[in-house]
Order: sequence, then structure tokens, then C-alpha cells
Amino acid sequence: MKKAIALFAVAASVASSATSVGAQDNAGNTYLGVKACAGMCHKTEKQGNQLGIWEKTGHAQAYTALTTAKANDIAKAKGLTSPAADAPECLQCHTLKADAKVDIKDGVQCEVCHGPGSGYKNMSVMKDKAKAIAAGMTEYKDNAAIERQCRTCHNEKSPTYKEFNFEERWGKIRHSVPKTP
Ligand code: HEC
Ligand code: HEC
Ligand code: HEC
Repeated sequence: MKKAIALFAVAASVASSATSVGAQDNAGNTYLGVKACAGMCHKTEKQGNQLGIWEKTGHAQAYTALTTAKANDIAKAKGLTSPAADAPECLQCHTLKADAKVDIKDGVQCEVCHGPGSGYKNMSVMKDKAKAIAAGMTEYKDNAAIERQCRTCHNEKSPTYKEFNFEERWGKIRHSVPKTP
């Protein structure tokens, strides 16, 4: 009897997770938020200081950009009835929308581009790129693949769209791990 109840609980949680839109990807991995990625790791110079670089790009402030009078004017002009910072039509490109664990105020976070991190967050996995990709980290084969990712947001559906020159913009946010000589 106990076993049957446990099985039922598993089935119920699978069913509910399948309907919680955006919180999980197909592999069942969940988003953790920038603090989990960079609160502990990804911030030393030796590692490439991804946190520091990200904080200086617009991506860290992308949610805040929706809280201005200008943003609300844009939303109103589009016929939206809620403030820009509450409108899914705006949030879709201005933050990482996931479950309650992720702070949407942190804007366009690491996992927007790298995939939900629960499966590959452990050091033993992350140290090995192939393992991390197998565990759900997004793989980019070349610059064209990276550019396609950028253009899911940097496109004409953005009400303030500016010409997107990939080389120039990628140069502004690049955050590689330094090559050891
Ligand atoms: C398709 C993705 C997308 C959607 C949808 C979107 N944005 Fe943006 N938004 C962007 C991008 C990308 C930028 C950065 C502009 C650039 O450099 O191209 C931006 C920048 C902005 C800025 C700052 C730009 C400035 O010049 O001050 C504001 C304000 C803004 N968006 C408001 C909104 C509002 C309000 C909505 C909802 C009505 C919205 N956005 C919907 C992608 C989007
Ligand atoms: C707008 C998209 C985007 C955001 C946001 C982003 N990254 Fe990246 N990141 C990339 C791309 C694209 C690459 C290059 C991937 C490749 O070459 O396979 C990369 C590379 C990296 C690398 C280096 C891999 C290497 O081998 O040199 C690390 C580490 C990394 N990102 C961590 C982070 C962390 C931590 C954050 C958040 C603080 C973050 N990234 C935010 C797109 C992004
Ligand atoms: C989830 C949507 C999203 C994705 C994906 C995305 N961006 Fe952005 N990006 C934004 C928004 C929104 C802003 C504007 C933030 C603001 O104005 O506060 C922005 C701002 C920027 C800025 C700062 C504005 C400037 O030109 O100085 C750069 C650079 C940039 N993005 C480069 C990239 C690159 C390169 C990629 C792909 C590797 C990328 N972005 C992917 C949404 C996105």
C-alpha cells in the first residue's frame, strides 16, 4: 500500500511539472538563477569573471528597463493594460521566466543562454564540457549558432529594436575562460 502511494506521488509530480510552463525543459532540468551560477563560482579572474562581465552588460538590467516610465509608455502604446514589468509580452525577452526560485529582477540571466542548470551544476560535471552538454548545458557549434540565440530577442519584435551587429555586440558581452598559457 505504501508503495502504491509513493508511486502515485511520483506520477502526480511528473504530471504537474509537465504543466508548469517554462519552469522545466524537456529533460526535466530546472532553472536555478544567476545567484546559483555565480554566487559561488564564475566570478574569479582566473575563471574569467563571468559574473562581473555580465553585471556590466544590459542583460543584468533588462528587468529594471521595464520599470521606467518609458517602458510603461511603450506598453500602453501597444494596448497592454498592465505595467510593462508585469506584462508577459515584455518579460519574455527581458528576464529569465521560470519558477519561484528564480528572481526575475535579475533580468537576462546565465541560464537563458546556457540552459537550465540543475543537471550540470555539479563541479564534476561542469569541469568536463562534453559531460555538461550531455547533462543539459546548451551547446553552440559555431558563431552562427550563437547569433541565432541572440536573435531570439534582438529582433524586430522588440519595440525598441536597434540594428543587431553580431560581431560588435558579442564583443561587448563575451566572457570566455582565459586560456592557460
Ligand atoms: C523580442 C524581444 C523583446 C520584446 C518582446 C520586448 N523587448 Fe524590450 N528590448 C529587447 C532588446 C533586445 C532590447 C535592447 C535593445 C537593443 O539593443 O536592440 C530591449 C530594450 C528595451 C528598452 C530599453 C531601450 C531604450 O532605448 O531605452 C525598453 C524600455 C524596452 N525594451 C521596453 C520593452 C517593453 C515595454 C516591452 C513590452 C511591450 C518590450 N520591451 C518587449 C527585446 C524585447
Ligand atoms: C546572452 C547569452 C549569455 C548569457 C546571458 C551568459 N552567457 Fe555564458 N556564454 C554564452 C555563449 C554563447 C558562450 C560561448 C559558448 C561556446 O563557445 O560554446 C558562453 C561562454 C561561457 C563560458 C566559457 C566557456 C569556455 O569554455 O570558455 C562560461 C564559463 C560561461 N559562459 C558562464 C556564464 C555565466 C556564469 C553567466 C551568468 C553570469 C553567463 N555565462 C551568461 C552566452 C551567454
Ligand atoms: C532573452 C532575450 C535576450 C537574449 C537571448 C539576448 N539578449 Fe542581449 N539584450 C536583451 C535585452 C532585453 C537587452 C536590453 C537591456 C536594457 O536595455 O536594459 C539586451 C542588451 C544587450 C546588450 C547591451 C546593449 C548594447 O548593445 O550595449 C548587448 C551588448 C547584448 N544584449 C548582446 C547580446 C548578445 C551578443 C546575445 C547573444 C549571445 C544576446 N544579447 C542575447 C535581451 C536578450
